[in-house]
Amino acid sequence: MSRLDVRCEVDLPVNILIDNNGGKGITEKRSRFTSLSLSGGFINFPAPPAENKIIGLKYDLPRHGEFEILGQIVRTEEQGIATRFYNLNRDAKIKLWDYIRDNIRDDLSCPYCGKKNNQKLRKCDRCGWSLNFYSQDYIIEHEKESFHKRLLQKSKDFSIEDIYKILNYIDVEIIKIGKNLDINEEFVGSSESILNVFSMIRKVAPTDIPVLITGESGTGKELTATAIHERSPRRNKPFVPINCAAIPENLLEAELFGYTKGSFTGAHTDKIGKFEYADGGTIFLDEIGELPVNLQSKLLRFLEDNILEKIGANGGKKVDVRLIAATNTDLKSAIAKGLFRKDLFYRLDAFNIALPPVRERGEDRVILARYFLNKFSREMNLSRSFTSEAIETIRNYDWPGNVREIINKVRRAVVMSKGPDITPAELDINIPPMEMEGVKSLKEVRCTIEKQKLIEAMKHCNSNISKVARVLGISRPSVYSLRRKYNI
Ligand SMILES: Nc1ncnc2c1ncn2[C@@H]1O[C@H](COP(=O)(O)OP(=O)(O)OP(=O)(O)O)[C@@H](O)[C@H]1O
Ligand SMILES: [Mg+2]
Repeated sequence: MSRLDVRCEVDLPVNILIDNNGGKGITEKRSRFTSLSLSGGFINFPAPPAENKIIGLKYDLPRHGEFEILGQIVRTEEQGIATRFYNLNRDAKIKLWDYIRDNIRDDLSCPYCGKKNNQKLRKCDRCGWSLNFYSQDYIIEHEKESFHKRLLQKSKDFSIEDIYKILNYIDVEIIKIGKNLDINEEFVGSSESILNVFSMIRKVAPTDIPVLITGESGTGKELTATAIHERSPRRNKPFVPINCAAIPENLLEAELFGYTKGSFTGAHTDKIGKFEYADGGTIFLDEIGELPVNLQSKLLRFLEDNILEKIGANGGKKVDVRLIAATNTDLKSAIAKGLFRKDLFYRLDAFNIALPPVRERGEDRVILARYFLNKFSREMNLSRSFTSEAIETIRNYDWPGNVREIINKVRRAVVMSKGPDITPAELDINIPPMEMEGVKSLKEVRCTIEKQKLIEAMKHCNSNISKVARVLGISRPSVYSLRRKYNI
């Protein structure tokens, strides 16, 4: 494995500053760096007491003068201590690199992996590191690459689920701290299915690929569309939502594409359509299944060349618009009935984000309910919490209206509540918890059968995943995900 830094042997005096008793006195001792890299150095010095992990380092670089920086002791050895530099500013870094470069052994071997080359190379052909040390961008390139490699090394200990959790944590918890990046502040959830949605949003947002968002009513289709827009390079340009079902068919074309003055009776002035208005930004066509077939053809043409055809205009106009569409109907059955164009469907379906209904998001329903309870209590300056029976009811209810239903029920409960506790009755959910006792939900029954069949198939097929997939009539990835789900 290659090093992540160019390290050179040196013999450079350094003064070590050790803080005694939390700043009451500093001891200064002389020693020597025996090796140096951009990220740290090895010092021929006995380790100070364990509490002094951070030490001051004062050194004179020939031609560049004196520097004082902080170092963290990362390893103690018989010959001394390995330190990582703490607060190297740009200037100190450039000068240090100047010094290191002068001290690299000039024997043509790669200082990262040690490969002996017989001529000067720009890039090591074994480890791939840039050896172009005199290039102006060397430090920037080096830092970028070594950061990636360090991250890769660290992430080896993480499972893919851990990485999803970290990404989601960064999205939801850390990015929202940044003032301009708080787009996910209100996108709540930590179930595997919703983490998958977050991951798809992250992947597709920086591109211009059209996106089709599907999901039952109230699952967050519009929220997803805004999250994509706000994470995209288009975030400072308009996000233009339009509900295809809400506008009469005869007005929809004008609304979307605009018209020129005099193009039909009543067109007294030019009208800018939503596509033109969204230029540089994103258009969100909600309920795309309701788009009349003639407009579907026009939309498809637009997706091919980005040329906007205004009603009554001679020729088109190029606009730069990203399309996000959403539907809660089954477009495939609309295709079968001749109501939706197949070619448009495949164009949109290239990137499909399918939002799971709340009943398939496990504990998220409780997380969502608590989130909205806090939100509304804060807004109404009240202190409210759910009783344990209320939590149980939230868990057992299927939420056919999805997140919107959670919002409505929780808001109503906060408004109607007389005391600090919100009970199932105040939530107005009609499943008496007693009746549920002993009765297994459909989901539980399905899980039990799924698990049992998987165990049987694994036994029968000697754990050969391809065979198991064939026997059960599912894909191999589905077998893997079922094994993970049931810990088999
Ligand atoms: N994961 C979530 N976290 C927090 N709020 C959410 C979440 N998902 C949806 N919401 C909220 O629920 C409400 C409904 O969401 P949205 O309008 O995006 O759903 P929709 O799928 O477009 O619904 P419809 O099909 O009825 O148009 C909105 O107020 C939205 O902000
Ligand atoms: Mg919607």
